[in-house]
Amino acid sequence: SRSFTVLALESSADDTCAAVVTSSRQVLSNIVVKQLHLHEVFGGIHPTVAIEAHQRNMPGAVRRALDHANITMQDIDGVAFTRGPGSIGGCLSVGSNAAKTLAAALNKPLVGVHHMAAHALTPLLTTPVDQLPEFPFLTLLISGGHTLLLLATSKTEFRVLATTVDESIGRSFDKVARLLGLAWGTKGLGATLEEFCLKDITSPPDVGSFSVPMPGKLSFSYSCLHSSIERYISSAKIPLTEPHKVALARAFQDAAARQLCAKLILGFKQLAMKDIKPKHVVVSGGVASNSFLRARLREALDTYDPDAKIALVFPPPELCTDNAVMIGWASMHRFLVADYDDYTIDLRAKWDI
Ligand code: KG4
Ligand code: ZN
Repeated sequence: SRSFTVLALESSADDTCAAVVTSSRQVLSNIVVKQLHLHEVFGGIHPTVAIEAHQRNMPGAVRRALDHANITMQDIDGVAFTRGPGSIGGCLSVGSNAAKTLAAALNKPLVGVHHMAAHALTPLLTTPVDQLPEFPFLTLLISGGHTLLLLATSKTEFRVLATTVDESIGRSFDKVARLLGLAWGTKGLGATLEEFCLKDITSPPDVGSFSVPMPGKLSFSYSCLHSSIERYISSAKIPLTEPHKVALARAFQDAAARQLCAKLILGFKQLAMKDIKPKHVVVSGGVASNSFLRARLREALDTYDPDAKIALVFPPPELCTDNAVMIGWASMHRFLVADYDDYTIDLRAKWDI
């Protein structure tokens, strides 16, 4: 039978996204309009600036998604959008209004998708069929917006095992990079900090090491880590030299990685007590591109259970960060059983996964 083709829209954070995906795992287009440069001056996402940018960019993103896929709206079988979580009077409404209106005008079925569930289901699209992660699998979602450890037990059931009690790991990379006076660079502050850690310096000063917060508790916390770095810098009598900054950056990155590993292993231990033994850990989000972190995670899993050969899966970066392909893919199992939403469907600001 002919495959089902979905047009999907996503605008829950700062990227305006439109994509075309099919039920036979084809990504026909993936349009992401970034607005990072608009927010850099504010040091974070500015809500009204973000809404205005989505409003400006969404129609063009839809046009390009269809053009790149080389199809017309008539070839679309269903329209998907991000229903939540997010700000309902804000960013979310731009993508959802566009999706609902397109679906209604063309008399096509509509499906509203949970943003985190979509992140968690991405590996089922991006991994070769013979290496698909099997349920239950763990997902570590590490970005500027999320610091989450999720257990996916089926296409519709996810459990949040850990989230951050304060700021995200990505934001802490960004803040520490700023504290060290690093420039934004072409790849962003986090990637610039990773690169800075690799600087070849002789005899780096000893800056000590930063501890993992709340040992024994399955929660992340990253604001105390960046505050420790801030205190270290402000208590220094003289401006830090470059070797000193590199040492501090390394100590930060090391502590950030140790926390991720510690909480991941704690998650494994708690699940093992209930006889749940995941064979795959999917790591996604902007921070997942950090090579130092990837190596530490591999070591942690090998140390935890050398025989289990737990696989670490990293979807390609463009599908780890916010995108509409994951929204279209996550809507597919509902379209295929005709489980549609009404055109009147509401948004969900807070929505348990
Ligand atoms: O998923 P993402 O692209 O977008 C949002 O969260 O909106 O994640 C961006 C975050 C930023 O905080 C960025 O500094 C961080 O991911 N990041 C990194 C690296 N590349 C991006 N952090 C550490 N090391 C990297 N190589
Ligand atoms: Zn996201």
